[in-house]
Amino acid sequence: MDSIKIRGGHGLNGTVPISGAKNSALKLMVATILTDEPLVLTRMPDLADTRFLTTLLQHFGAEISRDGNRMQLHTPRLENAEAPYDLVRKMRASFNVLGPLLARNGEARVSLPGGCAIGARPVDLHLKALEALGAEIELAEGYVEAKAPKGLTGGAVTFPFVSVGATEHAILAAVLAKGETTLENAAREPEIVDLADCLTSMGARIEGAGSATITITGVDRLNGATHAVVPDRIETGTYALAVATAGGDVLLEDAVWKHNEALWDRLGHAGVIAAWAEGGIRIRSENGRLAATDIETRPYPGFPTDEQAQFMAAMCVADGRSVIRETIFENRFMHAPELMRMGAQIDLRGNEAIVTGVETLRGAQVMATDLRASVSLVIAGLVAAGETTIGRVYHLDRGFEGLEAKLAACGADIERVKE
Ligand code: UD1
Repeated sequence: MDSIKIRGGHGLNGTVPISGAKNSALKLMVATILTDEPLVLTRMPDLADTRFLTTLLQHFGAEISRDGNRMQLHTPRLENAEAPYDLVRKMRASFNVLGPLLARNGEARVSLPGGCAIGARPVDLHLKALEALGAEIELAEGYVEAKAPKGLTGGAVTFPFVSVGATEHAILAAVLAKGETTLENAAREPEIVDLADCLTSMGARIEGAGSATITITGVDRLNGATHAVVPDRIETGTYALAVATAGGDVLLEDAVWKHNEALWDRLGHAGVIAAWAEGGIRIRSENGRLAATDIETRPYPGFPTDEQAQFMAAMCVADGRSVIRETIFENRFMHAPELMRMGAQIDLRGNEAIVTGVETLRGAQVMATDLRASVSLVIAGLVAAGETTIGRVYHLDRGFEGLEAKLAACGADIERVKE
Protein backbone atom coordinates (compact mmCIF):
# COMPACT_ATOMS: atom_id res chain seq x y z
CA MET A 1 0.00 0.00 0.00
CA ASP A 2 1.26 3.46 -0.90
CA SER A 3 2.11 6.03 1.75
CA ILE A 4 2.83 9.76 1.69
CA LYS A 5 5.93 11.25 3.26
CA ILE A 6 6.04 14.90 4.24
CA ARG A 7 8.92 16.87 5.73
CA GLY A 8 7.24 19.79 7.42
CA GLY A 9 8.21 23.40 7.91
CA HIS A 10 7.86 24.83 4.40
CA GLY A 11 5.38 27.59 3.68
CA LEU A 12 3.12 27.35 0.61
CA ASN A 13 3.44 29.90 -2.17
CA GLY A 14 2.05 29.79 -5.68
CA THR A 15 -1.14 28.70 -7.41
CA VAL A 16 -3.37 25.66 -6.84
CA PRO A 17 -5.83 24.85 -9.62
CA ILE A 18 -9.12 23.69 -8.07
CA SER A 19 -10.62 20.58 -9.68
CA GLY A 20 -14.27 19.78 -10.33
CA ALA A 21 -16.19 18.73 -7.22
CA LYS A 22 -16.04 15.01 -6.49
CA ASN A 23 -19.39 15.02 -4.70
CA SER A 24 -21.05 16.73 -7.63
CA ALA A 25 -19.32 14.68 -10.33
CA LEU A 26 -20.60 11.42 -8.86
CA LYS A 27 -24.26 12.48 -9.05
CA LEU A 28 -23.84 14.05 -12.49
CA MET A 29 -22.36 10.82 -13.87
CA VAL A 30 -25.42 8.93 -12.62
CA ALA A 31 -27.63 11.19 -14.79
CA THR A 32 -26.47 9.18 -17.82
CA ILE A 33 -28.96 6.51 -16.76
CA LEU A 34 -31.81 8.96 -17.42
CA THR A 35 -31.16 9.51 -21.13
CA ASP A 36 -30.31 7.52 -24.24
CA GLU A 37 -28.30 10.48 -25.60
CA PRO A 38 -24.65 11.31 -24.75
CA LEU A 39 -23.90 13.40 -21.67
CA VAL A 40 -20.59 15.28 -21.70
CA LEU A 41 -19.09 16.44 -18.40
CA THR A 42 -16.17 18.83 -18.44
CA ARG A 43 -13.92 19.79 -15.50
CA MET A 44 -14.32 16.13 -14.45
CA PRO A 45 -11.87 15.20 -11.70
CA ASP A 46 -9.95 11.96 -12.19
CA LEU A 47 -10.31 10.17 -8.85
CA ALA A 48 -10.61 6.66 -7.49
CA ASP A 49 -14.32 7.36 -6.84
CA THR A 50 -15.08 8.55 -10.38
CA ARG A 51 -13.20 5.55 -11.82
CA PHE A 52 -15.09 3.27 -9.56
CA LEU A 53 -18.47 4.73 -10.56
CA THR A 54 -17.42 4.35 -14.20
CA THR A 55 -17.17 0.59 -13.62
CA LEU A 56 -20.62 0.47 -12.02
CA LEU A 57 -22.26 2.48 -14.82
CA GLN A 58 -20.56 0.32 -17.46
CA HIS A 59 -22.17 -2.65 -15.74
CA PHE A 60 -25.56 -1.07 -16.61
CA GLY A 61 -24.55 -0.64 -20.25
CA ALA A 62 -23.06 2.87 -20.22
CA GLU A 63 -20.31 3.60 -22.75
CA ILE A 64 -17.85 5.92 -21.04
CA SER A 65 -14.79 7.58 -22.48
CA ARG A 66 -12.46 10.16 -21.09
CA ASP A 67 -10.13 12.71 -22.63
CA GLY A 68 -8.31 14.70 -19.95
CA ASN A 69 -10.95 16.40 -17.86
CA ARG A 70 -13.73 15.73 -20.38
CA MET A 71 -15.86 12.64 -19.89
CA GLN A 72 -18.54 11.38 -22.24
CA LEU A 73 -21.19 9.00 -20.92
CA HIS A 74 -23.71 7.32 -23.20
CA THR A 75 -26.29 4.73 -22.19
CA PRO A 76 -28.22 3.93 -25.38
CA ARG A 77 -29.80 0.85 -23.74
CA LEU A 78 -29.98 -0.25 -20.16
CA GLU A 79 -28.54 -3.75 -20.12
CA ASN A 80 -28.90 -4.36 -16.43
CA ALA A 81 -30.76 -2.78 -13.50
CA GLU A 82 -29.04 -4.56 -10.65
CA ALA A 83 -26.18 -3.08 -8.61
CA PRO A 84 -24.46 -5.90 -6.72
CA TYR A 85 -23.02 -5.61 -3.22
CA ASP A 86 -19.44 -5.81 -4.40
CA LEU A 87 -19.88 -2.68 -6.50
CA VAL A 88 -21.98 -0.66 -4.01
CA ARG A 89 -20.17 -1.34 -0.74
CA LYS A 90 -16.97 0.42 -1.86
CA MET A 91 -18.70 3.74 -2.37
CA ARG A 92 -21.89 4.84 -0.72
CA ALA A 93 -22.75 7.46 -3.37
CA SER A 94 -23.35 4.61 -5.82
CA PHE A 95 -26.65 3.93 -4.01
CA ASN A 96 -28.00 6.96 -5.93
CA VAL A 97 -28.35 4.80 -9.04
CA LEU A 98 -31.51 3.24 -7.59
CA GLY A 99 -33.93 6.09 -8.45
CA PRO A 100 -32.64 6.63 -12.01
CA LEU A 101 -32.66 2.87 -12.72
CA LEU A 102 -36.24 2.74 -11.51
CA ALA A 103 -37.22 5.77 -13.59
CA ARG A 104 -35.72 4.30 -16.77
CA ASN A 105 -36.54 0.62 -16.25
CA GLY A 106 -39.60 0.40 -13.96
CA GLU A 107 -37.71 -1.87 -11.60
CA ALA A 108 -34.28 -2.09 -10.02
CA ARG A 109 -32.33 -4.06 -7.45
CA VAL A 110 -29.53 -2.26 -5.60
CA SER A 111 -27.50 -3.50 -2.67
CA LEU A 112 -27.75 -1.54 0.58
CA PRO A 113 -24.47 0.38 1.00
CA GLY A 114 -23.51 -1.14 4.33
CA GLY A 115 -21.48 0.44 7.13
CA CYS A 116 -19.30 3.45 6.74
CA ALA A 117 -16.32 4.60 8.78
CA ILE A 118 -17.89 7.95 9.70
CA GLY A 119 -21.08 6.59 11.25
CA ALA A 120 -24.12 4.47 10.51
CA ARG A 121 -25.26 6.55 7.50
CA PRO A 122 -28.63 4.92 6.81
CA VAL A 123 -30.61 5.38 3.58
CA ASP A 124 -34.11 5.60 5.08
CA LEU A 125 -34.70 9.12 3.72
CA HIS A 126 -33.74 8.01 0.22
CA LEU A 127 -36.26 5.17 0.36
CA LYS A 128 -39.06 7.34 1.82
CA ALA A 129 -38.57 9.86 -0.99
CA LEU A 130 -38.77 7.11 -3.65
CA GLU A 131 -41.92 5.70 -1.99
CA ALA A 132 -43.50 9.18 -2.08
CA LEU A 133 -42.94 9.02 -5.86
CA GLY A 134 -44.89 5.75 -6.07
CA ALA A 135 -42.06 3.21 -5.82
CA GLU A 136 -42.88 -0.11 -4.16
CA ILE A 137 -39.89 -1.05 -2.08
CA GLU A 138 -38.90 -4.29 -0.41
CA LEU A 139 -35.74 -5.17 1.43
CA ALA A 140 -34.47 -8.69 0.86
CA GLU A 141 -31.06 -10.25 1.53
CA GLY A 142 -29.31 -6.91 1.90
CA TYR A 143 -30.81 -5.57 -1.32
CA VAL A 144 -33.42 -2.93 -2.05
CA GLU A 145 -35.89 -4.28 -4.59
CA ALA A 146 -37.89 -1.44 -6.08
CA LYS A 147 -40.72 -1.48 -8.59
CA ALA A 148 -42.78 1.17 -10.33
CA PRO A 149 -44.61 -0.86 -12.97
CA LYS A 150 -46.58 2.14 -14.27
CA GLY A 151 -43.70 4.57 -13.87
CA LEU A 152 -42.95 7.00 -11.05
CA THR A 153 -45.47 9.73 -10.24
CA GLY A 154 -44.89 13.17 -8.68
CA GLY A 155 -45.28 13.41 -4.91
CA ALA A 156 -44.66 15.55 -1.85
CA VAL A 157 -41.60 14.87 0.27
CA THR A 158 -40.77 16.66 3.53
CA PHE A 159 -37.36 15.65 4.81
CA PRO A 160 -37.24 15.47 8.63
CA PHE A 161 -33.65 16.77 8.49
CA VAL A 162 -31.34 17.86 5.72
CA SER A 163 -29.74 15.12 3.63
CA VAL A 164 -27.61 15.94 0.60
CA GLY A 165 -27.76 12.42 -0.82
CA ALA A 166 -31.52 11.97 -0.31
CA THR A 167 -32.27 15.39 -1.88
CA GLU A 168 -30.15 14.51 -4.92
CA HIS A 169 -31.68 11.06 -5.15
CA ALA A 170 -35.21 12.49 -5.06
CA ILE A 171 -34.35 15.00 -7.83
CA LEU A 172 -32.78 12.29 -10.00
CA ALA A 173 -35.93 10.15 -9.64
CA ALA A 174 -38.51 12.95 -10.00
CA VAL A 175 -37.30 14.50 -13.27
CA LEU A 176 -38.92 11.68 -15.30
CA ALA A 177 -41.93 11.12 -12.97
CA LYS A 178 -45.44 12.01 -14.14
CA GLY A 179 -46.58 15.31 -12.61
CA GLU A 180 -45.16 17.59 -9.97
CA THR A 181 -42.88 16.75 -7.05
CA THR A 182 -42.16 19.09 -4.16
CA LEU A 183 -39.23 18.62 -1.81
CA GLU A 184 -39.40 20.48 1.52
CA ASN A 185 -36.40 20.94 3.84
CA ALA A 186 -34.21 20.07 0.87
CA ALA A 187 -30.41 20.36 1.07
CA ARG A 188 -29.08 23.68 -0.35
CA GLU A 189 -25.49 22.66 -1.10
CA PRO A 190 -23.86 23.98 -4.32
CA GLU A 191 -23.74 20.36 -5.54
CA ILE A 192 -27.58 20.33 -5.54
CA VAL A 193 -27.62 23.46 -7.71
CA ASP A 194 -25.02 21.90 -10.02
CA LEU A 195 -27.10 18.75 -10.44
CA ALA A 196 -30.25 20.79 -11.11
CA ASP A 197 -28.37 22.95 -13.68
CA CYS A 198 -27.12 19.87 -15.52
CA LEU A 199 -30.53 18.16 -15.52
CA THR A 200 -32.14 21.41 -16.69
CA SER A 201 -29.80 21.53 -19.67
CA MET A 202 -30.91 17.94 -20.35
CA GLY A 203 -34.52 19.20 -20.55
CA ALA A 204 -35.68 18.71 -16.95
CA ARG A 205 -37.94 21.28 -15.23
CA ILE A 206 -36.62 22.12 -11.76
CA GLU A 207 -37.38 25.25 -9.68
CA GLY A 208 -35.85 26.34 -6.39
CA ALA A 209 -32.57 24.36 -6.30
CA GLY A 210 -30.36 26.06 -3.71
CA SER A 211 -33.36 26.86 -1.50
CA ALA A 212 -35.16 24.62 1.00
CA THR A 213 -38.12 24.04 -1.34
CA ILE A 214 -37.55 22.42 -4.72
CA THR A 215 -40.29 21.81 -7.28
CA ILE A 216 -39.79 19.38 -10.13
CA THR A 217 -42.22 18.98 -12.99
CA GLY A 218 -41.68 15.64 -14.67
CA VAL A 219 -40.94 15.45 -18.40
CA ASP A 220 -41.32 12.47 -20.77
CA ARG A 221 -37.68 12.24 -21.75
CA LEU A 222 -34.32 13.88 -21.25
CA ASN A 223 -31.80 14.73 -23.93
CA GLY A 224 -28.01 14.82 -23.88
CA ALA A 225 -26.09 17.92 -22.77
CA THR A 226 -22.65 19.30 -22.03
CA HIS A 227 -22.06 20.49 -18.49
CA ALA A 228 -19.03 21.76 -16.54
CA VAL A 229 -18.73 20.29 -13.03
CA VAL A 230 -18.76 23.00 -10.32
CA PRO A 231 -15.30 23.70 -8.74
CA ASP A 232 -14.76 21.66 -5.59
CA ARG A 233 -15.56 23.77 -2.52
CA ILE A 234 -14.17 21.12 -0.17
CA GLU A 235 -10.88 20.96 -2.04
CA THR A 236 -10.85 24.79 -1.96
CA GLY A 237 -11.38 24.81 1.79
CA THR A 238 -8.75 22.13 2.27
CA TYR A 239 -6.00 24.09 0.47
CA ALA A 240 -7.11 27.30 2.19
CA LEU A 241 -6.61 25.53 5.52
CA ALA A 242 -3.28 24.09 4.38
CA VAL A 243 -2.03 27.62 3.63
CA ALA A 244 -3.55 28.93 6.86
CA THR A 245 -1.66 26.28 8.82
CA ALA A 246 1.66 26.09 6.98
CA GLY A 247 1.78 29.85 6.23
CA GLY A 248 2.20 31.41 2.80
CA ASP A 249 0.38 33.11 -0.03
CA VAL A 250 -1.55 31.01 -2.55
CA LEU A 251 -4.08 31.65 -5.31
CA LEU A 252 -6.82 29.00 -5.41
CA GLU A 253 -7.61 29.12 -9.10
CA ASP A 254 -11.29 28.89 -10.12
CA ALA A 255 -12.45 28.69 -6.49
CA VAL A 256 -15.93 30.16 -5.90
CA TRP A 257 -16.10 32.66 -3.02
CA LYS A 258 -19.72 32.20 -2.06
CA HIS A 259 -19.41 28.41 -1.73
CA ASN A 260 -17.19 28.72 1.37
CA GLU A 261 -18.44 31.80 3.21
CA ALA A 262 -18.64 30.01 6.56
CA LEU A 263 -14.95 29.09 6.25
CA TRP A 264 -13.87 32.60 5.19
CA ASP A 265 -15.63 33.99 8.26
CA ARG A 266 -13.82 31.56 10.59
CA LEU A 267 -10.45 32.05 8.88
CA GLY A 268 -10.84 35.81 9.22
CA HIS A 269 -11.34 35.31 12.93
CA ALA A 270 -8.22 33.15 13.05
CA GLY A 271 -6.15 35.89 11.40
CA VAL A 272 -5.94 34.59 7.82
CA ILE A 273 -6.62 36.90 4.88
CA ALA A 274 -8.91 35.31 2.32
CA ALA A 275 -9.91 37.60 -0.53
CA TRP A 276 -11.50 37.38 -3.91
CA ALA A 277 -8.81 37.82 -6.58
CA GLU A 278 -8.61 37.80 -10.36
CA GLY A 279 -9.14 34.14 -11.37
CA GLY A 280 -9.94 32.75 -7.92
CA ILE A 281 -9.37 33.29 -4.22
CA ARG A 282 -6.12 34.39 -2.62
CA ILE A 283 -5.21 33.08 0.82
CA ARG A 284 -2.50 34.74 2.90
CA SER A 285 -1.32 33.57 6.28
CA GLU A 286 1.84 35.42 7.20
CA ASN A 287 1.41 36.67 10.76
CA GLY A 288 2.66 33.76 12.85
CA ARG A 289 0.27 31.63 14.90
CA LEU A 290 -3.44 31.56 14.13
CA ALA A 291 -5.92 32.68 16.75
CA ALA A 292 -7.94 29.79 18.23
CA THR A 293 -11.42 29.78 16.65
CA ASP A 294 -14.52 27.67 17.30
CA ILE A 295 -16.62 25.95 14.65
CA GLU A 296 -19.83 23.96 14.54
CA THR A 297 -20.64 21.90 11.46
CA ARG A 298 -24.01 22.54 9.81
CA PRO A 299 -25.71 21.85 6.50
CA TYR A 300 -24.88 24.43 3.81
CA PRO A 301 -24.50 27.41 4.11
CA GLY A 302 -23.13 26.47 7.55
CA PHE A 303 -19.62 25.20 8.19
CA PRO A 304 -19.17 21.96 6.17
CA THR A 305 -18.56 18.68 7.99
CA ASP A 306 -16.17 17.81 5.15
CA GLU A 307 -13.83 20.63 6.29
CA GLN A 308 -14.03 19.89 10.02
CA ALA A 309 -10.98 17.59 10.18
CA GLN A 310 -8.84 20.05 8.22
CA PHE A 311 -9.93 22.92 10.48
CA MET A 312 -9.03 20.84 13.51
CA ALA A 313 -5.51 20.31 12.12
CA ALA A 314 -5.16 24.10 11.80
CA MET A 315 -6.37 24.64 15.37
CA CYS A 316 -3.83 22.13 16.72
CA VAL A 317 -1.12 24.79 16.26
CA ALA A 318 -3.27 27.88 16.97
CA ASP A 319 -2.78 30.14 19.94
CA GLY A 320 -5.43 29.24 22.52
CA ARG A 321 -8.30 26.79 22.92
CA SER A 322 -10.92 26.08 20.29
CA VAL A 323 -14.12 24.06 20.45
CA ILE A 324 -15.02 22.00 17.39
CA ARG A 325 -18.56 20.67 17.39
CA GLU A 326 -19.66 18.04 14.86
CA THR A 327 -23.43 17.88 14.35
CA ILE A 328 -23.77 15.97 11.06
CA PHE A 329 -22.01 12.63 11.57
CA GLU A 330 -21.72 10.84 14.89
CA ASN A 331 -18.27 9.35 14.50
CA ARG A 332 -16.24 11.94 12.72
CA PHE A 333 -13.28 12.55 15.02
CA MET A 334 -11.15 9.59 13.94
CA HIS A 335 -8.40 11.98 12.89
CA ALA A 336 -8.11 13.29 16.48
CA PRO A 337 -6.16 10.32 17.93
CA GLU A 338 -3.81 10.42 14.92
CA LEU A 339 -3.25 14.18 15.37
CA MET A 340 -2.55 13.48 19.04
CA ARG A 341 0.20 11.07 17.99
CA MET A 342 1.83 14.13 16.42
CA GLY A 343 1.66 16.05 19.69
CA ALA A 344 -1.74 17.72 19.38
CA GLN A 345 -3.70 18.33 22.57
CA ILE A 346 -7.30 17.31 21.96
CA ASP A 347 -9.94 16.42 24.49
CA LEU A 348 -12.85 14.50 22.97
CA ARG A 349 -16.22 14.91 24.68
CA GLY A 350 -19.05 13.36 22.71
CA ASN A 351 -19.59 15.46 19.61
CA GLU A 352 -17.15 18.13 20.78
CA ALA A 353 -13.39 18.26 20.43
CA ILE A 354 -11.61 20.78 22.60
CA VAL A 355 -8.30 21.62 21.01
CA THR A 356 -5.57 23.41 22.94
CA GLY A 357 -3.09 24.72 20.42
CA VAL A 358 0.57 23.77 20.79
CA GLU A 359 3.59 25.60 19.38
CA THR A 360 4.84 22.69 17.33
CA LEU A 361 3.61 19.32 16.15
CA ARG A 362 6.13 16.52 15.63
CA GLY A 363 6.24 14.32 12.56
CA ALA A 364 5.03 10.75 13.17
CA GLN A 365 3.75 7.67 11.42
CA VAL A 366 -0.02 8.03 11.16
CA MET A 367 -2.91 6.26 9.46
CA ALA A 368 -5.62 7.64 7.19
CA THR A 369 -9.10 6.54 8.28
CA ASP A 370 -11.39 8.32 5.83
CA LEU A 371 -11.12 10.81 3.02
CA ARG A 372 -11.32 14.11 4.88
CA ALA A 373 -9.56 12.78 7.99
CA SER A 374 -6.57 11.74 5.94
CA VAL A 375 -6.09 15.15 4.39
CA SER A 376 -6.12 16.70 7.87
CA LEU A 377 -3.02 14.58 8.59
CA VAL A 378 -1.38 15.98 5.46
CA ILE A 379 -2.07 19.51 6.74
CA ALA A 380 -0.60 18.63 10.13
CA GLY A 381 2.41 17.07 8.40
CA LEU A 382 3.07 20.30 6.46
CA VAL A 383 3.63 22.20 9.69
CA ALA A 384 5.12 19.46 11.88
CA ALA A 385 8.81 19.31 12.71
CA GLY A 386 10.50 16.36 11.02
CA GLU A 387 8.96 13.66 8.87
CA THR A 388 5.35 12.47 8.79
CA THR A 389 4.38 9.24 7.03
CA ILE A 390 0.72 8.72 6.26
CA GLY A 391 -0.42 5.18 5.54
CA ARG A 392 -3.56 3.93 3.75
CA VAL A 393 -3.51 6.82 1.30
CA TYR A 394 -6.12 5.14 -0.90
CA HIS A 395 -8.55 7.22 1.18
CA LEU A 396 -6.90 10.38 -0.20
CA ASP A 397 -6.98 9.06 -3.75
CA ARG A 398 -10.76 8.76 -3.53
CA GLY A 399 -11.23 12.50 -3.42
CA PHE A 400 -8.17 14.68 -4.05
CA GLU A 401 -6.90 14.99 -7.59
CA GLY A 402 -3.12 15.36 -7.79
CA LEU A 403 -2.72 16.24 -4.12
CA GLU A 404 1.06 15.78 -3.84
CA ALA A 405 1.73 17.54 -7.14
CA LYS A 406 -0.45 20.53 -6.20
CA LEU A 407 1.24 20.91 -2.80
CA ALA A 408 4.77 20.28 -4.14
CA ALA A 409 4.24 23.00 -6.79
CA CYS A 410 3.71 25.46 -3.92
CA GLY A 411 6.90 24.44 -2.12
CA ALA A 412 5.82 21.55 0.12
CA ASP A 413 8.31 18.72 0.64
CA ILE A 414 5.95 15.83 -0.06
CA GLU A 415 6.27 12.55 -1.93
CA ARG A 416 4.37 9.35 -2.49
CA VAL A 417 6.18 6.17 -1.57
CA LYS A 418 4.99 3.19 -3.62
CA GLU A 419 5.09 -0.21 -1.99
C1 UD1 B 1 -22.80 13.90 1.35
C2 UD1 B 1 -21.38 13.99 0.91
C3 UD1 B 1 -20.43 13.93 2.11
C4 UD1 B 1 -20.81 14.99 3.14
C5 UD1 B 1 -22.29 14.91 3.47
C6 UD1 B 1 -22.78 16.03 4.37
C7 UD1 B 1 -21.37 12.91 -1.27
C8 UD1 B 1 -20.88 11.79 -2.09
N1 UD1 B 1 -21.07 12.88 0.02
O1 UD1 B 1 -22.98 12.64 1.97
O2 UD1 B 1 -19.10 14.15 1.65
O3 UD1 B 1 -20.07 14.79 4.31
O4 UD1 B 1 -23.07 14.96 2.27
O5 UD1 B 1 -22.50 17.26 3.80
O6 UD1 B 1 -21.95 13.85 -1.76
N2 UD1 B 1 -29.00 10.31 6.97
C9 UD1 B 1 -29.99 9.49 7.47
N3 UD1 B 1 -30.80 8.83 6.56
C10 UD1 B 1 -30.66 8.96 5.22
C11 UD1 B 1 -29.64 9.81 4.72
C12 UD1 B 1 -28.82 10.48 5.63
O7 UD1 B 1 -30.16 9.33 8.68
O8 UD1 B 1 -31.41 8.34 4.45
C13 UD1 B 1 -28.13 11.05 7.93
C14 UD1 B 1 -26.65 10.70 7.80
O9 UD1 B 1 -26.34 9.55 8.56
C15 UD1 B 1 -26.00 11.96 8.33
C16 UD1 B 1 -26.95 13.07 7.88
O10 UD1 B 1 -28.17 12.41 7.57
O11 UD1 B 1 -25.97 11.93 9.74
C17 UD1 B 1 -26.48 13.85 6.65
O12 UD1 B 1 -26.11 12.94 5.66
P1 UD1 B 1 -26.23 13.28 4.09
O13 UD1 B 1 -26.40 14.76 3.93
O14 UD1 B 1 -27.24 12.41 3.50
O15 UD1 B 1 -24.79 12.87 3.59
P2 UD1 B 1 -24.44 12.08 2.25
O16 UD1 B 1 -25.34 12.53 1.16
O17 UD1 B 1 -24.30 10.65 2.54
